[in-house]
Amino acid sequence: MGIVSAFMENDHAYLDRLWAVFLNERKNLARSSGRLARFKRRLKLHVRLEDEFLFPRLTDYCGLAKNTGLTGMARRDHAVILKLLGLVEKAYRDRRFEKVMLAGGNLDRALKKHRNREGAIQYPVSDRFIHRSEWRRMLIKVYGRAINQKMI
Ligand SMILES: [Fe+2]
Ligand SMILES: [Fe+2]
Repeated sequence: MGIVSAFMENDHAYLDRLWAVFLNERKNLARSSGRLARFKRRLKLHVRLEDEFLFPRLTDYCGLAKNTGLTGMARRDHAVILKLLGLVEKAYRDRRFEKVMLAGGNLDRALKKHRNREGAIQYPVSDRFIHRSEWRRMLIKVYGRAINQKMI
């Protein structure tokens, strides 16, 4: 697995762990709001890395115009994913936990489908031309200097 795939797949798994922790504690209000906020923060960083840095670079490399093809599709997927997360947040604020699970299930499915495509196309293609130093610069822009060096 290349450096882009390795980091991104790892981050998907990390996001899944944050999500599972939230779901486990969803009725423990003192803890779960922080868990949900943490998941959202980290998901938004992942999306920012893709939308603002990685995928524009990928379309550029492929000689495509911005927001066409796969990059545009990913951007639209991200908007849907964040909208579904908004529904989870609303149901959570209203303390409607069955609705949290329902909207959460929709979010899960949207994420899975979206990630399958990223893992099959965007990431492996990026692996072929993004060098370690460029990748490191992108990651620092999004995650800051504290990014774990072992992950790059
Ligand atoms: Fe994505
Ligand atoms: Fe992703």
